[in-house]
Amino acid sequence: MSHSIPAADTSEWWRTAVIYQVYPRSFADSDGDGIGDLPGVTARLDALAALGVDAVWLSPFYPSPQNDAGYDVADYCDIEPAYGTLADFDALLARAHDLGMKIIVDLVPNHSSSAHRWFQEALASAPGSPERARYLFRAGRGPEGAQAPNNWQSCFGGPAWTRVVEPDGTPGEWYLHLFDSSQPDFDWSNTWVRERFREILRFWLDRGVDGFRVDVAHGLIKEDGLPDNPAGPDDFFAPTPFWAQDEVHDVYRDWREVLEEYDGDRMMCGEVWVTPLSKLATWVRPDEMHQAFNFVYLSTAWDAAALRTSIDDSLAAFHEVGAPSTWVLSNHDVVRHATRLGFAPDAWLFHGIGPATDGLPDPALALKRARAAILLMLALPGSAYLYQGEELGLPEAVDIPDEARQDPAWHRTGGERYGRDGCRVPIPWDADSPAYGFNETGASWLPQPSDWAVYARDVQEQDPASTLSLYRAALALRRTYVLGSGTLRWADESDEDVLIFGNGEVRVVANLSAVGVPLPEGFEVVVRSGGVGPVLGPDEAAWLVSAGRS
Ligand code: GLC
Ligand code: MG
Repeated sequence: MSHSIPAADTSEWWRTAVIYQVYPRSFADSDGDGIGDLPGVTARLDALAALGVDAVWLSPFYPSPQNDAGYDVADYCDIEPAYGTLADFDALLARAHDLGMKIIVDLVPNHSSSAHRWFQEALASAPGSPERARYLFRAGRGPEGAQAPNNWQSCFGGPAWTRVVEPDGTPGEWYLHLFDSSQPDFDWSNTWVRERFREILRFWLDRGVDGFRVDVAHGLIKEDGLPDNPAGPDDFFAPTPFWAQDEVHDVYRDWREVLEEYDGDRMMCGEVWVTPLSKLATWVRPDEMHQAFNFVYLSTAWDAAALRTSIDDSLAAFHEVGAPSTWVLSNHDVVRHATRLGFAPDAWLFHGIGPATDGLPDPALALKRARAAILLMLALPGSAYLYQGEELGLPEAVDIPDEARQDPAWHRTGGERYGRDGCRVPIPWDADSPAYGFNETGASWLPQPSDWAVYARDVQEQDPASTLSLYRAALALRRTYVLGSGTLRWADESDEDVLIFGNGEVRVVANLSAVGVPLPEGFEVVVRSGGVGPVLGPDEAAWLVSAGRS
């Protein structure tokens, strides 16, 4: 069966862009305090231009108590002092634009930090006041209101409600926090909240940003009356009274209008953990967001039939609404795919991994698959997201000592969930420098593994067989052969173990079987994830073009 979706409109940059996620805390540290910062990012932007990405998404850099690594925002229009100043941000933006790269900033609208002035004012005000109405304060249930208003659980474990002590010293109302207790949820049915966020969008658009990555973009609206949740806490994709409520779309229609007031193609990409893909695609209808992360693809096992279905369903669902598909394998919330893909296909890893996790994979096998997986992903039409360090083949840091762990999910579950620290460790630049070149002092807010010198960028730059060289080659060829705006056609020989498709002039082969397969005749290899010669080994992928055309 051949599957084909017409080529996308490429005049809008985000339709085909490769977007690189920088996690500022862990990218590069200019002042040696062990915490990455904006001047550190600016100084290293040329490495991203050399890699060949189109845009950079910066995870939150706002003032924050850092209870959730900056996803607890205390001021939406300023910079965390440990990360720099607004002038540093402007310098970063200007440098990126000089290098031809766009900048996307992370917007966190579902909740603020409890340290935000708006929440502090709410705490100091009486129940029923306009200040309290910015957030979701409710009376408790049961005698004396001593029980939480409903059964909702925090995504980080434990109840999603915390009771406050009223200004007069008595036990009082409860407030909702779908995440940590220091991350109170806004009440998005309140027009005051909507007005503030329009102002925040304008603040960053006026500064010149090219777009927003929108945090928890499926969670802003809660069902009226806040009824009990029928689904279990680990049931990520089940219908709940807080995820994917229809009215949430009004928010993005409104924001789209704000973005349209600005020149250039300013965009929004939603973090939307919603299935099926046809439902996810409702976030990217023509008058809403431009992109949504494809977590269905991220969650697909290393299995040819499953991947083919995931690819077909993605292209079809996004095409239906005129949006590009996105593709992603790693980010700051999931186990790095250079480790994850080595696990058994049914392993459920969303609570993180650590030394006591069962079935820890063979690192060499996992990296081999990761290299094949990225060649497969970068050949797909649409827009692709990369997470800092994956271009180095960086694995998950598994052996982080308990006392060094920072993720609120680890602390809120008493260590039952390892959480996400393992994918957030500062990345290696130079094999022989302190902190592998993350800074000059050797300090690091999460400990770096002792065996990471082999992943350092300076080592990989010299090695044509390195993962960095593979990424560079693939990104350059993706551009040459305009794969982002191409059309995918499955080849007749594609089967349940070996994926074979064409995209423009390029033929892509990914071998997920246990045996080597001969490469098609009449073609020459332009890039391959591993191996040499006419046979493509298990867990290897290659891009080919007709002989004489490369
Ligand atoms: C998103 C972020 C995650 C954060 C959560 C709460 O899922 O990606 O890192 O913890 O939202 O803001
Ligand atoms: Mg620093």
